[in-house]
Amino acid sequence: MKIGIIGAGNIGGNLTRRLTALGHDVSVANSRGPQTLSALAEETGATPVTVREAPRGAEIVVITIPLKAVPDLPSGLLDEAADGVAVIDTGNYYPRQRDGRIAAIEDDGLTESRWTERQIGHPVVKAFNGTYAQDILDRPLPAGAPDRMALPVAGDDEAAKRKVRDLIEALGFDTVDAGGIDDSWRQQPDTPVYGLRGGVDAVTRALAEASPERTPEFSG
Ligand SMILES: NC(=O)c1ccc[n+]([C@@H]2O[C@H](COP(=O)([O-])OP(=O)(O)OC[C@H]3O[C@@H](n4cnc5c(N)ncnc54)[C@H](OP(=O)(O)O)[C@@H]3O)[C@@H](O)[C@H]2O)c1
Repeated sequence: MKIGIIGAGNIGGNLTRRLTALGHDVSVANSRGPQTLSALAEETGATPVTVREAPRGAEIVVITIPLKAVPDLPSGLLDEAADGVAVIDTGNYYPRQRDGRIAAIEDDGLTESRWTERQIGHPVVKAFNGTYAQDILDRPLPAGAPDRMALPVAGDDEAAKRKVRDLIEALGFDTVDAGGIDDSWRQQPDTPVYGLRGGVDAVTRALAEASPERTPEFSG
């Protein structure tokens, strides 16, 4: 499958490693340009590209950059992606450490992924946001293995969500349907499921136990 990855840091780099190993045709971009991605390209066989090029013809696009950089993405970013493209949003809002205060999230109550959708003008599927980047390399297990981790996946487009769940399951993790994007606060930072290394039952329980209140540490 053709997959475009925007962001080549902790998460983007490790998804590039694992998805190329599974045989996918991966294009990867960062903010500084493809010439800075030659080591990752050499290691993985991925194609280093510009941000604009990454989604071209892609069935899945992963956006994995700091939240505060999302508004800098070019407009019409997904215009040349394949029909029915699924856009994975791995992002988290860290107002104090990194992103600054975003009023639409804090005052208007948008979920972080709804805010991202509005910036890029395309629906997203929220996945990997609570997964330690290193676990993408270290913790995949075959289906049915007793310790296989599960990841929550939220999105409004059921077909796109199915596509993303299938990809994650092929990567070596179970998935739990975490509802639509309006429900995705249940997997944002500071919730029980965030960073949880558990199976389907533990993840399902943690999603149910989440509280929508934003604690001071996670408010700008
Ligand atoms: N680290 C984790 O374990 C983890 C886990 C789950 C979710 N997340 C979330 O996933 C997102 C990415 O995290 P990360 O830790 O992978 O970040 P990171 O290591 O800081 O890497 C960020 C990447 O985004 C690129 N980037 C920044 N601004 C960009 C722009 N305007 N256009 C294109 N690329 C841009 C950077 O490129 P340059 O280097 O060229 O600037 C870099 O490749 C964040 O929202 C984070 O909260 C992280």
